[in-house]
Amino acid sequence: MPGEEPIVLAVPKGRVLEQLGPRLEQAGLDPSVLTGRSRKLIRDDRKNGIRYLLLKPDDVPTYVEYGAADLGIVGRDVLLERDYDLYAPVDLGIGRCKLAVAGLPGGAYATQRADYADVLRVGTKFPRVAARHFESLGVPHELIFVQGSVELAPLTGLADVIVDIVETGETLRQNGLVVIEDICEVSSVVVANRVGLKLGRERIKPLLKALRG
Ligand code: PRP
Repeated sequence: MPGEEPIVLAVPKGRVLEQLGPRLEQAGLDPSVLTGRSRKLIRDDRKNGIRYLLLKPDDVPTYVEYGAADLGIVGRDVLLERDYDLYAPVDLGIGRCKLAVAGLPGGAYATQRADYADVLRVGTKFPRVAARHFESLGVPHELIFVQGSVELAPLTGLADVIVDIVETGETLRQNGLVVIEDICEVSSVVVANRVGLKLGRERIKPLLKALRG
């Protein structure tokens, strides 16, 4: 509505953004403001009263939690790594992938999982997910935090296995690694600040409904 404050929607830069366009279109929005070569981090869809913030995926929940954005779009993998006080009312069904343990096919953990007795060195940017997984299996482990190109860890001897996102499996395949255990499925959800949603219900609810499809 003209004159009204826009609804601020935090969206992740990167691969999910490409899949998000069609979902926004289905919801009656205009995703064309998100595409193009611009380096602008704030994009306004004035017609529909939406202001997009383009963020690193890991930062999306933070902006919503502190109320700098009304809503955010983020993978469940990010939410699993920290305790956010957020409401996740809509699963968009995009950004589908899984978190898994992977390693060299002939590695000790891959071949003798049942009898594995050593301390397993785990390279990951998901330490909490990894810790929970190996604790549930009773596998003694040491977490080695890495930020990216995680597949390098078992190839260089930094770690025995990794816990990472697997989408197409291509990165593992090209680096000679295999999935050893699946941990959980991941997809992108819409998150909302609980208080913000209560206060701005009339303004935000129609958009949530549209995104729900
Ligand atoms: C992610 C993940 C894997 C890869 C999996 O990395 O960490 O490396 O994607 O995708 P695939 O199964 O389709 O090959 P990303 O591309 O986000 O880069 P990063 O290594 O910097 O984390």
